[in-house]
Amino acid sequence: MTVLEALQWRYATKKMNGKRIPQEKLDYILEAIRLSPSSSGLQPYKVLVIDDRELLKKIQPIAWGQSQIVDCSHLLVFAAWDKYTEEKIDETFQFILKERNLPPDTMDAYREKLWGIYSQLPEEWHAHHAAKQAYIAMGIAMVAAAEQGIDCTPMEGFSPDELDDLLGLREQGLRSVLLLPLGYRDAENDWLVNMKKVRRPKEELFVEIKGESVEA
Ligand SMILES: Cc1cc2nc3c(=O)[nH]c(=O)nc-3n(C[C@H](O)[C@H](O)[C@H](O)COP(=O)(O)O)c2cc1C
Repeated sequence: MTVLEALQWRYATKKMNGKRIPQEKLDYILEAIRLSPSSSGLQPYKVLVIDDRELLKKIQPIAWGQSQIVDCSHLLVFAAWDKYTEEKIDETFQFILKERNLPPDTMDAYREKLWGIYSQLPEEWHAHHAAKQAYIAMGIAMVAAAEQGIDCTPMEGFSPDELDDLLGLREQGLRSVLLLPLGYRDAENDWLVNMKKVRRPKEELFVEIKGESVEA
């Protein structure tokens, strides 16, 4: 499937059939998440990969009773940092420099500039900014899943505070922001499966601003 074919094929699956997805497909989706870009390369989130029926049964009522939580193969929980700290930024930059065999002081000026900005901003901004990075990763995960013929449902429909309590996320400096059950559609029982995919027409979505162009 091309990316566009995969995007046509995928839909926010409402009913899954409870079958397990192969490990290599799960690994492929997780690798796409790992390769997702993030602001300053900080990857300010963790992704919990839940393969535990008992735990999923406890999560379902917290996620508005949605059936995909228990009928999926694996549930991904995207949990973003609750705040940035100078230490966390420094640790990430040191890791990048080590991986690239660069001197440890290479990013000092950038870190100071970044922390100069971030340290002035309220903690709620930090959590929100980190969550936005997790959304990028989830978007890329959805495309990777579709390319592999794996269904998923992006979900904001849950109570983050209750899930944080259940999974002990606050103690780890994390806040749950998104759920992504992975699995297979139950085509016979999913009301959405044959519905037309509805998107705004491109004339409405895109605003072209024309002026001097580069040469083709
Ligand atoms: C951030 C986000 C949160 C969503 N939350 C839910 C959800 O909790 N439950 C659900 O069934 N669908 C959820 N959706 C699915 C959207 O309703 C769906 O993606 C949208 O209507 C477009 O349809 P399609 O994904 O089937 O093409 C969510 C989608 C996004 C991107």
